[in-house]
Amino acid sequence: MDSLLAILRRTVEKRLAWDDTEVSASLGKPAVFILTPPRSGSTLLRVMLAGHPELFAPPELELLSFTNLKHRREGLSLRHGYMLRGLVRAVMALRECGEAEAEGLVNEWEARAVLMPEVYAQLQEWCGSRMLVDKSVHYALSPKILQRAADCFGQARFIHLTRHPQATLQSIVSMKLDKELFGGVSAGAEEIAEGIWTLSHENILGFLDPIPAGHRLRVRYEDLVSAPQDELGRICAFLGIAFHPAMLLPYAERRQRMTDEIGPQDPNFHRHQGIDARLAEAWRDSGHVALSSESMCIADKLHRQQSCCGTRICPHPSWPVG
Ligand code: A3P
Repeated sequence: MDSLLAILRRTVEKRLAWDDTEVSASLGKPAVFILTPPRSGSTLLRVMLAGHPELFAPPELELLSFTNLKHRREGLSLRHGYMLRGLVRAVMALRECGEAEAEGLVNEWEARAVLMPEVYAQLQEWCGSRMLVDKSVHYALSPKILQRAADCFGQARFIHLTRHPQATLQSIVSMKLDKELFGGVSAGAEEIAEGIWTLSHENILGFLDPIPAGHRLRVRYEDLVSAPQDELGRICAFLGIAFHPAMLLPYAERRQRMTDEIGPQDPNFHRHQGIDARLAEAWRDSGHVALSSESMCIADKLHRQQSCCGTRICPHPSWPVG
C-alpha cells in the first residue's frame, strides 16, 4: 500500500503542478526565494525583509507554481483564491497605483496568459535596484516547482527557513491547512500536517543540494525570533547588503511592508505587536505527537547539518523531539 507521503506527492502533482510544460528563461537579475513549509514564520521573515530599502518582499506571489497567469488564476481559484491577491498587492506597490488599476493590469495578463518568467521580468524591471523576494509556501511542496526557480533565475538566492516540526504541525492543524491543501486525502489532520512538513523539507533539501553554498542559507525560526538582529545580519551578509534597523520593526509602516488587508494575510500575524520570541517554545505547552521515521530522518538531517556547520551550535539540545 502507498505511504501517506507517496499519496501527498501524487496529490501535489495533480493539484499544484499539473502543468508540466518545461519553462526556462534567463532572468539575470538576482532574486531571493524563501523556501519553507507553511506555518514556519515565513510571513514574519518576509515582513522583516520588506523593511529593507534594498529589498522588495511582497506577500505570496505564487508564480513559479504555474507556467502562465491564466493557469495561475484557474489553479488558485479552486482552493486558494486569496493567494491571487499577492501579485495585485505587489503591482500596486511597484506602480504606486490603486487596487483597481493593479487588478485591471493583472486581469489583462491573465487574459493574455502571459508566461510566468515574463511576469517576473516585469516585476524585476519595476523593482529597479531593489532585489525581489518571493516567499510562497506552496513552492516547497513540489520538486518540479522548485526546479523552475533554478531554471529561470541565473542569480537566485535561497533562504531555507526551518522550524521545529511540532510547532509547524500544531499551527497547520489549527489553521486547517491540511484540509486546504489536501482535502479529500483520507488521513488524520496531524498526519497530513506532518506530511506537509516532511515533504516540503525533503524537497528543499534535495533541491538545494547541488546549489552552490554561497547561494543558499539555512535560517532557523527559533534563532530569528530569539536573536533577530544577529539572524537578520547574517541574512543581509548572505544577500550582500548592509543590515538595516527597520527590519527589526515588522509592525511599522504597513504600506511599505504590504501587511495591509489588500494582499493575502495571516490573521495570526496581526495578533502580535512585535517579534514574539515566546512563540519559539510555545508548542511545548500542548505536548507533541510521535513523528514517523521519515519525519525523524528529515528532522535529524536538519538538526545535524545545523549543529555541525562549525559556526553555529544548536541552542536547543532537545531539537528535534519525536
Ligand atoms: P501560529 O499563529 O499558528 O502560532 P507562516 O507565516 O509561515 O505561515 O507562519 C506563521 C507562524 O509564524 C505563526 O503561527 C506564528 O507562530 C509565527 N509568527 C507570526 N507572527 C509572529 C511574530 N510577530 N513573532 C513571532 N512569531 C510569529
